[in-house]
Amino acid sequence: MESVTNLEQLFSLLWTDYCAFNPKAKRIHQLLVDRGEKIENDHIALRTFKHPRLGIAHLAKTFERFGYQAKQEYIFKEKKLYAKHWEHKDPSQPKIFISELETEKLSQGLQKIVAGLIEQIPDSFLNREDVVTAGRPWKVSHADFVTLANESEYAGWMACHGFRPNHFTVFFNQLKGFKTLPELNQFLRQSGYQMNTSGGEVKGTPAELLEQSSTMAEEVEVQFTDGKFTVPACYYEFAKRHADPKTGKLYQGFVAASADKIFESTNRM
Ligand code: NI
Repeated sequence: MESVTNLEQLFSLLWTDYCAFNPKAKRIHQLLVDRGEKIENDHIALRTFKHPRLGIAHLAKTFERFGYQAKQEYIFKEKKLYAKHWEHKDPSQPKIFISELETEKLSQGLQKIVAGLIEQIPDSFLNREDVVTAGRPWKVSHADFVTLANESEYAGWMACHGFRPNHFTVFFNQLKGFKTLPELNQFLRQSGYQMNTSGGEVKGTPAELLEQSSTMAEEVEVQFTDGKFTVPACYYEFAKRHADPKTGKLYQGFVAASADKIFESTNRM
């Protein structure tokens, strides 16, 4: 358990956890640094279950302590998700995107499994200053994981990985060596990384003011109560933002249609 005293330390904890879990993200980051790029994060995405003890509001406290302010909210009807994003007054700090699964909209069977996970969480865990990178506070069987993931990929991901970054997103506009997202995607593919092609390799359009692409999620071995199994972990994302013609400023929101597809990068193959 770590006490968190400043934003830099918080992001370092999040990045270290994410890289340990997803070595591919760390290698891609290094690949870009080796080409002379200075990487800035556009946003960091976190997931949780909708619940009074551990919903969006609870995770957001970790960031609000350091000056983050809630901005827009989003609804992903099909995936039964509610989300919000936070911004810091220093625009070079990444936006924080937190979503929660609206568990009351799941089938009775899934609701029961999720309630069983939540019941196992001690209050001491939720009070941790580093809760957003504290991992999984419950035991879960692979059989339950499969039941969850078959109905909701998101429920399965939360059940087996818990509280940790779902993805980091590189701010494409800051990269100097690539003019377009497809150019970056091609470079990554040629370097041996598989891109998520669900809904097209680039989600969103310049007209929607946000274009994003991502790698396929890394496969990791996870310990379940009934053995070790390989499951999808996290992906690495790239966001290109366009100026809003109304304000002349770069759009800071998240396009619903695009994000709905991006969530699919952790689907099981
Ligand atoms: Ni994202």
